[in-house]
Amino acid sequence: MEFEIYSGEKATGIIASKAKTHQPVIEAPEKVKAGEPFEVKVRVGPHPSTKEHYIGKIEVYYSEAGRDFNPILIASISLAPEYTEPVVSLRVRVEKSGVIHVISYCNLHGLWISGREIRVE
Ligand SMILES: [Fe+2]
Repeated sequence: MEFEIYSGEKATGIIASKAKTHQPVIEAPEKVKAGEPFEVKVRVGPHPSTKEHYIGKIEVYYSEAGRDFNPILIASISLAPEYTEPVVSLRVRVEKSGVIHVISYCNLHGLWISGREIRVE
């Protein structure tokens, strides 16, 4: 059994049918200045937030250009069903260009990933 992280691009069949409501959507500026904070917004869904079916975790990673080992875990948010919606906002700063990857976890539909490039100018 493989360890799976689903993404919309590679998904087929029943998995593809869940991509739209599970793959994280990342809003972030394309270009940023080194060391200056910027906003990263992540949302998953629309997705239920009930005890039976919910997004329990959103993790944000940064893969930095030129670094020997990637990624860096920059945020890990646990979400309680019923009380929260899978929408988070972060202030982030980076020194070098790279890619933000977000992984979301649904208790019924597993792990989903998406990425967004950040260019430091
Ligand atoms: Fe789900």
